[in-house]
Amino acid sequence: MNIPFRKSIKLMDGYVSGEQPQGDGWVKLNTNENPYPPSPKVVAAIKNAANGRLNVYPDASATQFRNVAGELFGVSPDWILPANGSDENLTIIIRSFCNPHDTIAYPYPSYVLYESLARIQNCQVQRLRLNKSYQWDAEGAGNVCRPARIVFAPNPNSPTGNRWTAAQLHQLLPNNGMLVVDEAYGDFAAEPHRGELLKDKRFDRRIIVTRTLSKSYSLAGIRFGFSIADPEITSGMQKVRDSYNCDTIATAAATAALQDQDWMLRNREQIICTRNRMLTELPPLGFSVCPSQANFVWAIHETGRHQQIFELLKRRRILVRFMQFPNAGVNNETLDGLRITVGTDDEVEKLLNAMRQVVAAEC
Ligand SMILES: Cc1ncc(COP(=O)(O)O)c(C=O)c1O
Repeated sequence: MNIPFRKSIKLMDGYVSGEQPQGDGWVKLNTNENPYPPSPKVVAAIKNAANGRLNVYPDASATQFRNVAGELFGVSPDWILPANGSDENLTIIIRSFCNPHDTIAYPYPSYVLYESLARIQNCQVQRLRLNKSYQWDAEGAGNVCRPARIVFAPNPNSPTGNRWTAAQLHQLLPNNGMLVVDEAYGDFAAEPHRGELLKDKRFDRRIIVTRTLSKSYSLAGIRFGFSIADPEITSGMQKVRDSYNCDTIATAAATAALQDQDWMLRNREQIICTRNRMLTELPPLGFSVCPSQANFVWAIHETGRHQQIFELLKRRRILVRFMQFPNAGVNNETLDGLRITVGTDDEVEKLLNAMRQVVAAEC
C-alpha cells in the first residue's frame, strides 16, 4: 500500500526513546529520571485536582502556574509558556520559527531529538562537532551557527553532562535566528540559572530558555515543561500550541512542584552527592568520565566495549543507556559510550558491584 506520507516523514527515522522495562526488580538508570518521588504536596494537588471539575476544560493560560514560574525566574508571567513536557516546547519552537529548508544547528553529540524535529519540519541540520573535551572553538561555532534559523543548546549538555558559560553560549547566537537554551538539567548545575541569561543584553532578546518538570521535580510521568522568553516571543509561540496543551491535573501538579522548592533542592543535593561518588568510583574500573553538572554521567570505557557492558548489565536487570553518535569522534568515527543516570545510593551500589564483575570477567 502506498500511504501518502510527506516525503520527509517517509525518509526519516523516528526518534527512539529510552527503554521503559515492564515488571519489577530493575535498576533503571537509562532515561535520567529522578530516583526520588515528587513532593507529597504535588500528590495532594493531583488528588485535589482530580476531585475538582474535570468536566470542564483546563485554564488555557495556566494562570497560576505562570505566576509561580514567573516569580521563580524573576520575570512577569507573560514570559512563561507552558507545554506538555519540554519536548513539546521544542516542537512549538521549531514550528514557530522554521520554514521548510531552513537550517537548525546544535552541538554534537547532544540531544538527537532536535534533529528528528528538524526532519519532521523538513529542515536542514548542521551539527557543531564538539572536540575531545566536548567544547567548540568560537570561530567554528560562528561559522556553523550564524546562518541558522534556530540553534539548540542543551545546558548542561546530554549525554556529556558538561555546562557552557553565557559567553560560550553567546558564540552560538545566529545572525537572524533564535538561540534555544535547553535547561532540562539546569537545576543540577553548580549554579543554576534563574533567568539571568534572558536578561543578558548580548543575546538581543533572541533567546528562549526551556525547562522541564521531568527531572529535578520528579515528574517525568506527568509531562510538563515550559519556555521562558520575551513576551513578544511567547505571544507568537502561543498561536502555534494547542489551546489546551496542558491538562488540569498536570498543571496543578507542576504548580505545586515549583512551590515546594525545599523538596526539589533536598533531592538535588542528594543526587549531586551520589553523582560525585559515581565520578570517583567509575574511573578505577577503567572508565573516563566527563565532569557532570547533570543527573547522569557519561562514561567511556578503555576497552570501548560499551555494547557488551550494557548487555551484561542488562542481564543483571541493570539498565543504563548505550549511545552511539556517528561521525562524532575526533577522526569522524562513531563515538559511543554509556550514559548512566544518577540513581539512589542503593541503586548506584548495585550498579558499581555489577560493573566490577562485568569489567573484571568480560573485558
Ligand atoms: C536535553 C533534553 N531536553 C529535553 C528533554 C525532554 O524533557 P521532557 O520530559 O520535559 O519532555 C530531555 C529528556 O530526556 C532532554 O534530555
